[in-house]
Amino acid sequence: MKLWGGRFSKSTEGLVDDFHSSISFDQRMAEQDITGSIAHATMLGEQGIIPQEDADKIVDGLKGILDDVRAGKIVWQVDAEDIHMNVETLLTQRIGEAGKRLHTGRSRNDQVALDVRMYCKAACQETEAMLDDLLDALLTIAQDNLHTIMPGYTHLQKAQPITLAHHMMAYFQMFLRDRNRFRQAYRAADVMPLGSGALAGTTYPLNRERVAELLGFSAITMNSLDGVADRDFLLDYMSAASICMMHLSRFCEELILWNTNEFRFVEMDDGFATGSSIMPQKKNPDVAELIRGKTGRVYGDLMALLTVMKGIPLAYNKDMQEDKEAFFDARDTLVKGLTVFTAMLRSVTFRREEMERGASGGFTNATDCADYLVKKGLPFRDAHRVVGELVAHCLDEDKALLDLTLDELKRFHPAFEQDVFDDLSMLACVEKRRIPGAPAPDMVQASIDAGRRALEEN
Ligand code: ARG
Repeated sequence: MKLWGGRFSKSTEGLVDDFHSSISFDQRMAEQDITGSIAHATMLGEQGIIPQEDADKIVDGLKGILDDVRAGKIVWQVDAEDIHMNVETLLTQRIGEAGKRLHTGRSRNDQVALDVRMYCKAACQETEAMLDDLLDALLTIAQDNLHTIMPGYTHLQKAQPITLAHHMMAYFQMFLRDRNRFRQAYRAADVMPLGSGALAGTTYPLNRERVAELLGFSAITMNSLDGVADRDFLLDYMSAASICMMHLSRFCEELILWNTNEFRFVEMDDGFATGSSIMPQKKNPDVAELIRGKTGRVYGDLMALLTVMKGIPLAYNKDMQEDKEAFFDARDTLVKGLTVFTAMLRSVTFRREEMERGASGGFTNATDCADYLVKKGLPFRDAHRVVGELVAHCLDEDKALLDLTLDELKRFHPAFEQDVFDDLSMLACVEKRRIPGAPAPDMVQASIDAGRRALEEN
């Protein structure tokens, strides 16, 4: 008979057991469920709500189950529905009568809320650690490439020269924000819901603070309805995961482009590329493509839970059981993506000469040429027009700005002098951009140093 079978005159259809059972996926929370129950039973004993002797038996029994879970010795039962009832059933089988006192002053509604919060906290911490590793990889590449000139783009058209270090530090900022978002999600999850009961708290004198303390929560939930009906913390994790995947996907897209024969900015390591079954010459950036592709999956998970939550009246409804598969999938996809991405990034070879060559084509120093004329006294708008005419002339002649002689330049404006040639070199263009946040090597060094400190202060 089901744990809740007292009022039923017949058992559930096999079909229904199969449909509503969640054990196939919530067994992942066995550790959290058992640890939560140990804290609950400990508190019940301390408060004299159940005999201390029974509390001790429950705690011992649960510890034994936890050992067996870790050893992979437990076979979960579909007809026991979910992880909560599986553990309770197993406990009573093992320790007898005392096991039946575990669920005093508790509902599966606050129990599952506790379990997912604990799981979510661990997921946030683990994700943060992985982001730290990625941030470290970015700092290393940046430090090695302070002077590696490359073209910066807008509209995927060459725009102005930057450095590879500067480009990497843009991603550093993005992933640093991600890290903060996971920290925020952690704080949202770090509130202890046990004591909310089914929806209306409980008549037993539970010591909720004590349970929070035993489980390492910073606070307890403040409304019993919200305590069982809230999954915002999962949405926080999943939106952080979606944004983080979006960042990974953009980065992958760049690596894919840079790895093409058209760009040739990077060479992917053989260990992170795959071949073609028909075209012998191929080396494809499948890993980067798959991360880009899996981003959609994490958005889908977020959308799924947002949609589940949008129409359900307070407090708990079974719809909410749908939270777990979406959350686990988002977590798994992100963890795999981050792990493989960081390893791939560390293995990429940057082709510095190609990047530099790329920077010197496409008139990336045109803005600097206008700025040069401004230095010589022209208003910027006039300088812009002069350089536009120069570019048009160069396009006709198939030349770069610096291929022109001083005489030719002077034909477009008399303000040009010999010093223009030094002023418009790629390195000079980058070095002149020396305000905070700009690509001059010493400015990027400052942002690398600040980034290192942010990582170490952690
Ligand atoms: N398996 C359920 C879930 O994941 C546990 C809570 C069930 N509560 C209930 N009243 N049916 O949400």
